Amino acid sequence: MTQENGLYADLSKILITKEQIAAKIQEVGKQITADYQGREPVMICVLKGAVVFFTDLIRAVDLPVTIDFMATSSYGSATKTSGVVRVLKDLDQDILNRDVIIVEDIVDSGVTLNYLTSMLRHRGAASIRIVTLLDKPERRKIKDLKVDYSCFDIPDEFVVGYGLDFDQKYRNLPDIGVLDRRIYE
Ligand code: IMP
Ligand code: MG
Repeated sequence: MTQENGLYADLSKILITKEQIAAKIQEVGKQITADYQGREPVMICVLKGAVVFFTDLIRAVDLPVTIDFMATSSYGSATKTSGVVRVLKDLDQDILNRDVIIVEDIVDSGVTLNYLTSMLRHRGAASIRIVTLLDKPERRKIKDLKVDYSCFDIPDEFVVGYGLDFDQKYRNLPDIGVLDRRIYE
C-alpha cells in the first residue's frame, strides 16, 4: 500500500487511485456539461457514500446547477444488502419539472436507485439520470435499471474509500481499495 500503516493497512489492494478518479471525473463532468446545455439540472447527492465524489463532480460541471441531498439506508454494518430501502433524509426542494441528476457512490443490486428513481418520477421530475462512481454489474438484481454515466466497473469485491465505508469507516481514504477480508469475517 502507499502508506505503511493507518487505514491503508486494512486494504488487500488499491483498486483505483485518486489520480484515476480525478481524471475520470473531468471526463464525466464534460459529458454532463455537453448533454445539459441550456438547462439547469439539480444534482442530488445520495448521502453519505457519494459525498466525496459529489463535491468533485459538481465542480467539473460547467452549468448553473443547484444541489440537494438525500440519505438512504439499506446496509447497516453488514457487507450484503438487506434489500430494504429507508429514506433517512429527504430533499429540501420540490423537483417538479426539474431535470434531476442522481449522484451515487456505487450501484450494486440496484435496489436503492430503483427505489429512488421511481420516487422522484412520482414527484414529477422532468427527467432523471443516474451518475455513479462505481458499478458492480455482476451483482445487479434490477436488470432494467439504466445507469447513464458510470465512472468505473468493478468486480464483485467489497471496496472502501473515497466516500465508501465499512461500518461508517474508511470514507476519508483518498483512493478506492478492496477491504481485507480479515476486517469483516
Ligand atoms: P444497492 O441498493 O444494492 O445497489 O446498494 C447500493 C449501496 O450499497 C451503495 O450506495 C453503498 O452504500 C452500498 N455498497 C454496495 N457495495 C458496496 C461496497 O463494495 N462498499 C461499500 N458500500 C457498498
Ligand atoms: Mg450509498
